[in-house]
Amino acid sequence: MVVSSAPGKVYLFGEHAVVYGEPAVPCAIERRATVEVEERDDDALRVHAADLTLDGYTVEYDSNSDAHPDVDVAPSLIEAGVGYLNGAAEQARDAADRPNAGFEITVESSIPLGAGLGSSAAVVVAGIDAATRELGVDLTAREVAQRAYEVEYEVQDGQASRADTFCSAVGGAVRVEGDDCRAITEVPNLPFVIGYDGGEGDTGELVAGVRSLREEYEFAATTVETIGDIVREGEQAIREGDIEELGRLMDFNHGLLEALGVSSRSLDEMVWAARESNAYGAKLTGAGGGGCIVALDDTEEAETALKYTPGCEQTFRAELDTEGVRVEE
Ligand code: PMV
Repeated sequence: MVVSSAPGKVYLFGEHAVVYGEPAVPCAIERRATVEVEERDDDALRVHAADLTLDGYTVEYDSNSDAHPDVDVAPSLIEAGVGYLNGAAEQARDAADRPNAGFEITVESSIPLGAGLGSSAAVVVAGIDAATRELGVDLTAREVAQRAYEVEYEVQDGQASRADTFCSAVGGAVRVEGDDCRAITEVPNLPFVIGYDGGEGDTGELVAGVRSLREEYEFAATTVETIGDIVREGEQAIREGDIEELGRLMDFNHGLLEALGVSSRSLDEMVWAARESNAYGAKLTGAGGGGCIVALDDTEEAETALKYTPGCEQTFRAELDTEGVRVEE
């Protein structure tokens, strides 16, 4: 039996635009998905998934049965979750050249599901790592990232960048531009505060919405390119350790995401609550439509303001996690 874990992430800059070849800077956070894998005697895949959101659900899924788990999670998220774990199992079978290997997989996660914190990437990264090791194969973090990307790409119908999976596999702050993925080595202390509205966005739908805006309007295409310019400025601010500038650029980035139609009332309200409490800056993180915002604030104020913001269900601090996927004792 092998247990691996991998971190979730926030986007400091660049979600959505990264789908069209612009750079993005996701940062791993100290909230992890943990996946335990044990090889079975037969070729079945059985998944136990508890605590898949902060509220805590138990999902049991047996690939040999059609029974639907009786839980209060959008069926599309369950389907996707199962798709990611099927994909992880397939990748492990391929890596070990064991096409008939069966697995008992148990998932625990403290990353809200579908909320822009990279829960699915963390599960698939930890799942591939644990399942390959269980079959006696040790992959590097980059190899795990590559295989995890292939799974996300398939489950999300070809609409996935490498950002989430690479960040979760290697940890820390990273820069992703097309196929070029690298770690950012010198990162200032980033005082992340997360606000979570308890909801989730449909990544596929939101990505498709931006795609059609971009095809219809020249100015929407320019907006996407401008997000790329913000990311390049942001990289300079990271190098200089200029937190105030990072905050201003996050505000700008949120405004452009809002213009592209991927924010929501609750995300905007949380962003404004954080800004009005003098956070350096705030923006939605991930696909949008609902889920989480990330603010930069080194006082208690943004967290307190978010606690009293209607629509904000949870707020917490998140440290940058410099470690990516790892084996747990
Ligand atoms: O919501 P998340 O954490 O799945 O992030 C989606 C980020 C997008 O840029 C919208 C899509 C992608 O694959 O990069």
